[in-house]
Amino acid sequence: MNEFRNDAPQLSADEKLNLLVEFGARISNELRLDKLLDIIAQQISRMLNVGRCTIYLKDTERNELWSKIAQGRGLEHTEIRLPLDGTSTVAVVARTGEIINLANAYEDERFSMAVDMVTDFHTHTMLAVPLKNNSGKVLGVFQVANKADGTTFNKKDEGILLLLATLAASSIEIAKLYQDVHVSQLETIYRLAVTAEYRDQQDTRTHLKNVSIISYLLALALGMNKKEAELIKNASPLHDIGKVALADNILLKPGRLTPEEFEIMKSHTVYGGRILEGAHSKVLQVAHKMSLYHHEKWNGAGYPKNLKGEDIPIEARILTIADVFDALCVSRRYKKAWKTDEAYQYILDEAGKAFDPRIVAAFKKIYSSVRKLYVNQTPQGPQAPAAPAAPAAPAFSAAENK
Ligand code: C2E
Ligand code: SIN
Ligand code: SIN
Ligand code: FE
Repeated sequence: MNEFRNDAPQLSADEKLNLLVEFGARISNELRLDKLLDIIAQQISRMLNVGRCTIYLKDTERNELWSKIAQGRGLEHTEIRLPLDGTSTVAVVARTGEIINLANAYEDERFSMAVDMVTDFHTHTMLAVPLKNNSGKVLGVFQVANKADGTTFNKKDEGILLLLATLAASSIEIAKLYQDVHVSQLETIYRLAVTAEYRDQQDTRTHLKNVSIISYLLALALGMNKKEAELIKNASPLHDIGKVALADNILLKPGRLTPEEFEIMKSHTVYGGRILEGAHSKVLQVAHKMSLYHHEKWNGAGYPKNLKGEDIPIEARILTIADVFDALCVSRRYKKAWKTDEAYQYILDEAGKAFDPRIVAAFKKIYSSVRKLYVNQTPQGPQAPAAPAAPAAPAFSAAENK
């Protein structure tokens, strides 16, 4: 959210100095990139008293500039992307490292109205300066529009905006780095999860994605905050990690498992628990609870520990509904896919038995969204795995198997 519209009155020089001090203090404490850009845009709008401040950052991989801009007050932020090699003024600033100052944007052929169109804004005066790091590399562009007093941006405004950009550059770089580390951690987790499920299912990615989206929606519907819900979302792909420890003759068995084989299958929860035990990161701690307890049942009839009710960690109680719903909706080596609405009915029927009734109630609320995940997924049989030793079996009947 790196755009801010301003209604603040004109500030005195003293107030501006205070803002400058506050600016430095506030931005040095913020590691989350979105929040940081938001704060910067807010402060700049107040200090320069402009109608809008937008921060564009370079995405070198995609050769684009991006920003998040609100579509009207209080609405969701939309990501705007402009080609770095394009003709927009901000792209020119990013390429050349020069300042562009327009007295009347719409009359200047360098200005592209595309962004104004989607954000319902009318740029009159506009100033764009490069955001450079210590070594002079351009990281992006700070753009302000519409001075409150209606005048054109002057040399002093250019100096202030450049100064603020210089002050903000290192905080932005650090936050970007922090975000990259976070993203690569999530990517590692996800790839590990794919590895664990790969032998078993060929549609791993869809399965992991759906389970994680459903878990996330459930967490939000239960009133958890976005941060907690995101932990659950990010941890959920690892719930079956313990399956890596199972032998092929069990994991890949076409058709029903014998009771003895099912006993061994159950141990995937215990293995998962061991693999993730003592983890330091929050996301792996949540994954630990999920992998160990995702087959526990609300009435105590689950495994591996026969935990009951709220003794089962909430993360596992959430995950189990997402996991079972998705398992029912797709075909497995041992069963055909159920119809989405049949799977839904099963979840409702198991309230108070397998599942926490409160979470089943939350599932009811989100079901219309969940259903959309499956409408375009025509049920299909498991594809033949790479190793021909374990041919895909004809799916068994969809009848209850336990
Ligand atoms: P999975 O295939 O990912 O299924 C996860 C859970 O979804 C199951 O946990 C069960 O609670 C639910 N589920 C899946 N299919 C059905 C179904 O047709 N009917 C009902 N009522 N529930 C279903 P569960 O039973 O503890 O099984 C854990 C894992 O054990 C399964 O994960 C699967 O990998 C394996 N498994 C279970 N039964 C069989 C089987 O008969 N044959 C084979 N080859 N594997 C099985
Ligand atoms: C431009 O700078 O030419 C377009 C970007 C904007 O409207 O903010
Ligand atoms: C707006 O906030 O969208 C109005 C600004 C303008 O049209 O100058
Ligand atoms: Fe499992």
